[in-house]
Amino acid sequence: MDRLLIEGGVPLSGEARVSGAKNATLPILCAALLTEEPLTVTNVPHLRDVTTMLNLLAQMGVAISMDEQLGVELVAARIASPVAPYELVRTMRASVLVLGPLIARCGEARVSLPGGCAIGLRPVDQHLKGLQALGATISIEHGYMLARAKRLRSAHICMDLVTVTGTENLMMAAALADGTTVLENAAREPEVVDLANCLNAMGAKVQGAGSDIITIEGVTRLHGARYRAMADRIETGTFLAAAAATGGSITLRDVRPDILDAVLDKLREAGAHVTSGPDWIALEANGALNAVNVRTAPYPAFPTDMQAQFVALNSVARGTALVTETVFENRFMHVQELKRLGADIEVEGNTAVVKGVGHLDGASVMATDLRASASLVLGGLIARGTTTVDRVYHLDRGYERIEEKLSRLGARIRRAR
Ligand code: EPU
Repeated sequence: MDRLLIEGGVPLSGEARVSGAKNATLPILCAALLTEEPLTVTNVPHLRDVTTMLNLLAQMGVAISMDEQLGVELVAARIASPVAPYELVRTMRASVLVLGPLIARCGEARVSLPGGCAIGLRPVDQHLKGLQALGATISIEHGYMLARAKRLRSAHICMDLVTVTGTENLMMAAALADGTTVLENAAREPEVVDLANCLNAMGAKVQGAGSDIITIEGVTRLHGARYRAMADRIETGTFLAAAAATGGSITLRDVRPDILDAVLDKLREAGAHVTSGPDWIALEANGALNAVNVRTAPYPAFPTDMQAQFVALNSVARGTALVTETVFENRFMHVQELKRLGADIEVEGNTAVVKGVGHLDGASVMATDLRASASLVLGGLIARGTTTVDRVYHLDRGYERIEEKLSRLGARIRRAR
């Protein structure tokens, strides 16, 4: 199993390019199921979760190829088997995103229930409630969700809570339903907007994405399109936090500063100097940062996917920070590992109380989930001496060649087996 070896204490400096967004690309790839014509997606990040999704789609009969500009072309001319097996859903919960498109296109779907995961229970009740409102009958048999509908019909759906993939699943299903569907209390995440833009490029009529009310006028068919996935705001935030925590100075290219306000504001509050242009962000940090309180919540508030990185950043800041997680119930797995590096953190309920210490010391730590792993890499970059991060496969799910990008920014980091 791969490990990362990090010699900490080097301020990051230089320029890096940010990849396409994992959480935008995954639903967009599923949108290919909605049409028999080719959907070509560009700016697709090279990640394990993307490979898993492509394997899942290929298994259903989607033809997948790469064009000369590295666009991924998907052709779902015929869907041979509308099934998402347990073996794949177990490794990647986002597989549940095939449910909505499959019912809309094939009138049936058999998708494994995802089960719990490292960061929380993560039920899919809102996905199912919405699909039932659209006219699907759903039963649970042998751990699978079996969904059927001759033709979906529009509905007015008020979601009980804000769910990103839930909103995306329903948007895709409603795109081919009879009549106009309204989704209330919809997720406002930029990745939802990116999916809506892709669907509209395919001939769908989605309005209001980015607000909490999305209106989808169903059409009888969608056509092919070429679509560029947005930049990854969490990769962007992770690199900025790493630069800030190491007292570095970096510029990130191909980014979307307009969707990162909550994170950039916190970095400024911590004492970093942040500037940006249309598609770049520069950060400069000198000396120790100030502790910053963080409270996660759905967009546009501070993202849960940046919480672990800010626990690491606060661990060497001046003062005490309260980091509160409100989206997932068990997303503090990184705390025990950061403590092995010498961080002073106590978890009280859904809040981590992080007391800044003078420095961290390298140690062996173990990654438990994607963003927890990112915070351990940050810890390693900050710490004196060598840090070994085990189980790097978690990082490979969501960060494209992280060690290469960090090396180019001056970090002493390498992968070992
Ligand atoms: N929830 C329910 N019922 C549902 C759906 C969600 O109770 O039917 C709960 C969840 O258990 C959670 C909360 O609602 O407590 C929010 O979950 P959400 O459904 O929004 O999460 P998700 O769609 O499964 C996506 C991202 C996550 C990101 C969250 C929150 C993708 C593929 N995944 O997950 O990304 O943390 O939204 O922003 O888009 C990551 O990239 O590391 C990651 C975990």
